[in-house]
Amino acid sequence: MPKVISYANQKGGVGKSSLCVQTAFYLAVKKKKKVLVIDMDAQGNTSSRIANRIQNEDGSFDPVFYGTKTAELFKDEVSNIVVMNCPFGIDLIHSPSNDPDLFEVESSELETALNPRKHVAPLLENYDYVIVDCPPSLGRKLLAALTIATHVAFPVKLSGFAIDGVEGLIESILGVREAFNSNLEILGIIINDMDRSVNHERSLKALQDAVPELMFKNKIMHRPPLDTAVSDGVPIWDLRYGHVAAKEVEAVLEEMLEKVG
Ligand SMILES: Nc1ncnc2c1ncn2[C@@H]1O[C@H](COP(=O)(O)OP(=O)(O)O)[C@@H](O)[C@H]1O
Ligand SMILES: [Mg+2]
Repeated sequence: MPKVISYANQKGGVGKSSLCVQTAFYLAVKKKKKVLVIDMDAQGNTSSRIANRIQNEDGSFDPVFYGTKTAELFKDEVSNIVVMNCPFGIDLIHSPSNDPDLFEVESSELETALNPRKHVAPLLENYDYVIVDCPPSLGRKLLAALTIATHVAFPVKLSGFAIDGVEGLIESILGVREAFNSNLEILGIIINDMDRSVNHERSLKALQDAVPELMFKNKIMHRPPLDTAVSDGVPIWDLRYGHVAAKEVEAVLEEMLEKVG
């Protein structure tokens, strides 16, 4: 059975989607693995970065979507799941950008959050790794992601409030594990977008003191090329000026793969 890795944090802008996209590239291209990405975030950022794109006359790009969209997985019945075939051989269950159907899932009954696991189970056998991007909230979609997952990692951006956020997050994850998915393994906290400010150093120290066993040894610093690579939907190691960022991302991913086993 595949390893199913979810990136979760109820805060936005911490690097969930960036890590999701780069993990998929890394596993597919560098490790030659069969990868499926499931985009549980109705903003659809990950989908538009992974999907094929067409160039418009003005030079801008639009993603091309087809197949089953994530919102359909929440229905009681889905006849036939069609995944999208994307660059680098990656498969995708996509969310169009700002999909109202996927936002609406949050107001549905709790049980609907268990439908995606039921529907994708037969499909997962075709893959080595499944990467699930989560929305910046604690709700039905996160619950669905955590019931599909075998492993969860928390990208964290340091700030004065980082500890409070992490404590709330871990509490929720433990609750989900107990109620719905006793096999879920917590991989830990990936510090992302860090700088050398006093504020970040202090916040890092506080986290290390509070949950030392959860901290990844490797970190990703504030690296503008990572922003460019993710915006352009390309692997970070393909940017000529991205080698420092690429090294940090690779070290984090290798550490993660070691934990996943
Ligand atoms: N290490 C980093 N250095 C610079 N920019 C980053 C870094 N990590 C993420 N970003 C940028 O920060 C923004 C938010 O990241 P994103 O992955 O979309 O977060 P989330 O999915 O948690 O909301 C994006 O524009 C992304 O490109
Ligand atoms: Mg995101």
